[in-house]
Amino acid sequence: TGRTPFIAGNWKMNLDHQQAIAFVQKLHWSLKEAKHVEGSVEVGIFPPFTDLRTVQTLLDADKISFALGAQDLSTKDSGAYTGEVSGAFLAKLNCGYVIVGHSERREYHDETDEVVAAKAQAALRHGLVPVICVGETSEDLEKFGASAVPVGQLEVALEGLPSEADIVVAYEPVWAIGSGQAATPEQAQEVCAKLRDVIAAKLGPDAAQRTRVLYGGSVKSTNIASFMREPDIDGALVGGASLVVGEFAAIVRYQ
Ligand code: G3H
Repeated sequence: TGRTPFIAGNWKMNLDHQQAIAFVQKLHWSLKEAKHVEGSVEVGIFPPFTDLRTVQTLLDADKISFALGAQDLSTKDSGAYTGEVSGAFLAKLNCGYVIVGHSERREYHDETDEVVAAKAQAALRHGLVPVICVGETSEDLEKFGASAVPVGQLEVALEGLPSEADIVVAYEPVWAIGSGQAATPEQAQEVCAKLRDVIAAKLGPDAAQRTRVLYGGSVKSTNIASFMREPDIDGALVGGASLVVGEFAAIVRYQ
């Protein structure tokens, strides 16, 4: 496909400053020992805001080539927005990526599709690649099937973006997140193919060809390979299993 596989670890609200240091060092050594070939798979880690500076320093000092990302950003660039974090600050910490529209933000912080779209635009303004998350709840699945809700969410998120926008899309069925019950590779492939069609319709065929679409939801070392065999799945957004060094390293080395 020409798309570099992307294995992204979303730590969510886990691992404090010291745990983050230990984790990154161990992961680096574990992949090195296993002779993981850098560049064959892009490895991304998404720590809490408070760990970003620490992790950035460590990656720089040890010349570790993991990509760094944040889990959220503000729709605004600066100003009187207490508690918010600007994409400008994230870019200065060498973040390459930022997650937008994770289902936990949509659910617990009432993020609408329009807010998610504004966050994707804010990321792009600062040269960050937004990892745009979409996915249906189990109720959505029953009522509308698997693809209608994620397709609608992505259509809004991509509205008005330029065709050259550098984005990643993550399909995360909400019922599969943290449940131990992943989608089947066939189910996930079907929705990811439809999401790629949305990218083609909104941003054009070139964007659809180059944009990576990830699957997320109970990804583990034992099921990653089956997802990666699907033509429209270019990687994974990993939650729980990204917190265990051996498990995450095994996911990275799925081949
Ligand atoms: O961002 C990651 C996802 O929410 C998946 O989480 O791997 O714990 O199911 P999980």
